[in-house]
Amino acid sequence: VLDEVVTARAERLLSSMLERRLDGEPVQYVLGHWAFRTLDLLVDPRVLIPRPETEVVVEVALAELAWLRDRGLPPAGRQPVVVDLGTGSGAIALSIAAEQACVEVWATDVSEDALAVAAANLAGLGTLAAGRVRFVHGDWWGALPAELKGAVDLVVSNPPYVAEGELAGLPAEVASWEPVGALVAGPSGLEALSAVLDEAPAWLAPGATLVAEIAPHQASAAQASAKAAGFAGVLVRPDLAGRQRVLVARR
Ligand SMILES: C[S@@+](CC[C@H](N)C(=O)[O-])C[C@H]1O[C@@H](n2cnc3c(N)ncnc32)[C@H](O)[C@@H]1O
Repeated sequence: VLDEVVTARAERLLSSMLERRLDGEPVQYVLGHWAFRTLDLLVDPRVLIPRPETEVVVEVALAELAWLRDRGLPPAGRQPVVVDLGTGSGAIALSIAAEQACVEVWATDVSEDALAVAAANLAGLGTLAAGRVRFVHGDWWGALPAELKGAVDLVVSNPPYVAEGELAGLPAEVASWEPVGALVAGPSGLEALSAVLDEAPAWLAPGATLVAEIAPHQASAAQASAKAAGFAGVLVRPDLAGRQRVLVARR
């Protein structure tokens, strides 16, 4: 309230936040939380800051779930199984669990630090939605239990897609503060997407869909990789700025 005297503790906290911001730390880490679709997510340097374009990825994923449902998939008596590979703060997995009542969501990450942040965010989801989510640690598909082979209806991923040589060209706020393992995929930038695509057929149920965030300049290469991995219906949808951003590949 504006006519209240600021306490010494509040003043110290605000000063330290200002100092961190002046040192170049992203405002989302300084605040410690950030809005993503319907959620207010805890974020710190253990995880990528969730981006507006990833909100569009979730929108496309939810539309794919509706598309599958309209085609009778999965068959009656079974809830759709959704997997978020590389969940970070949990942005994608937790949004789907919050916005879809009847889904089983598996969220993976190779970073135990990231999974700790995602688990903290799960606690803020409410018991009903939180009961739909499970976290598993490991390398892409290898994190999942074998019984999910052939049973995944929708896989969503925002994998690292920056090429090693591009890191230095990113804004300092990104390159110096966000986890390198969340940004950089390898020499070409397509290594993580390829790992997700190549193993997908073994895990996806018949008729299932893959939705992945890509960099706009990767659209042609990503579509070619999806076709090479055996997907039939392959397209790229734009983000809110009209950039080619979301790979959709249907089995
Ligand atoms: C671009 S971030 C996306 C985070 C979150 N899904 C989002 O959209 O905000 C990529 C995530 O993939 C994870 N990751 C990187 N390599 C991985 C691997 N080999 N297996 C599983 N996850 C990996 C990173 O730790 C990071 O959390």
